[in-house]
Amino acid sequence: MRHFLKLEGMNEPEARHILTLANKAKKNRGKKSKGMGPLAGQIWALIFTKASTRTRVSFEVAIRELGGVPSFLSAAEIQLGRGELVRDTARVMGRMVHGAVIRTFAQADVEEFADFAKIPTINALTDDEHPCQILSDIFTIEEKRGPIRGKKIAFIGDAACNVPRSWAEAAKIFDFQLICGAPREFRPPSVGSHVSWTEDPGKAATGADVLYTDVWVSMGKEAETAEREKIFAPYRIDRKLVAQAKKDVLVLHCLPAYRGKEISAELLEERAQDIFDQAENRLHTQKGILEWIVAKPLRGKE
Ligand code: CP
Ligand code: NVA
Repeated sequence: MRHFLKLEGMNEPEARHILTLANKAKKNRGKKSKGMGPLAGQIWALIFTKASTRTRVSFEVAIRELGGVPSFLSAAEIQLGRGELVRDTARVMGRMVHGAVIRTFAQADVEEFADFAKIPTINALTDDEHPCQILSDIFTIEEKRGPIRGKKIAFIGDAACNVPRSWAEAAKIFDFQLICGAPREFRPPSVGSHVSWTEDPGKAATGADVLYTDVWVSMGKEAETAEREKIFAPYRIDRKLVAQAKKDVLVLHCLPAYRGKEISAELLEERAQDIFDQAENRLHTQKGILEWIVAKPLRGKE
C-alpha cells in the first residue's frame, strides 16, 4: 500500500510520474471522462487539526472529480479533539473509509495514523513537512520556466518550518539548489550539496530563478508573533529584492499571504497571476497524488 507522508525516500521517477498525472489532470479538467474515476466507490476522510483553505478545497474537489466522496472532519469535532488516541481514531477510520488526508502538528501522528489505519494516507501539512505543496510548486515552476534541475530556488524567511524543509528534500530528489535567506535562529536544520544558508536575504536572492516565501508565523507559533515580526523584518520579499534576482525571476508564495510582512503588497499584486496559478495547481497535483496512491503498483515493485 502507498502513502504520501513526506518527500524523503521518494525517487525522481516516482515523483515525476505524479507530476505527469497532474499535467494530464490539468489538461483534461472539465472534459467528459471515459469510464469511472480512479476513486469511484471510495470515501476519503480529511482530518484537519489546523486551518486550511487551499489544501482542504483542492482535496475535496479532487476527490469528487476523481469519482470519490470526501468527508471533512475537523479534529475539534471528533473525539480526537477530546483526547482519543491517534491510533484508535486510525483503527476506526481504517474500517470505514478508503483513504485519509491529514493536517496536524506532529509528523509522528500522521505516520502513526498510516501504520494503524492501514489505508492510503496523505500528509496535508505537519510542523515538519508540506510535501503536497512542494510537489505542486515544482509543477508550477516547470510549467512556467521549464525543468527545475540545476535551477536556483531562493527561500526567504523562516527556513526552519515545514515548507522549506520539504523544499530541502525536493532539492535532493530533483537536483536543484535551494538557498535559504533566513535569520540564524530560523536557519535550515541541515545544509549540504543541494541546500545552503545565508543570513543575508540579498545574497540568497542574487541570481535566483525563483524567489519563494512563506508566512513568518506558522500555525501553532502564534504566541511568538511579536518576536518573529521583529526578527524577520529584514526578510520581506519586495521589488528591491526581486531586482537582485535573475531578470525573469518567478515569484512564488504558498499562501496565505500577509501583505507588508513576508511580502510587500505591491509585489504580491504585481505577481498575482503566477501566485494564484500556483494555488490553482494544488488541485491538479492533488489529483496526481491521489491517482498514484490508489494505483496498483507493478507486481514485485513495492
Ligand atoms: N498553502 C496552503 O497549504 O494553504 P492552506 O493552509 O490554505 O491549505
Ligand atoms: N508554514 C506555514 C504554511 C502554511 C501553508 C504554516 O505551517 O502555517
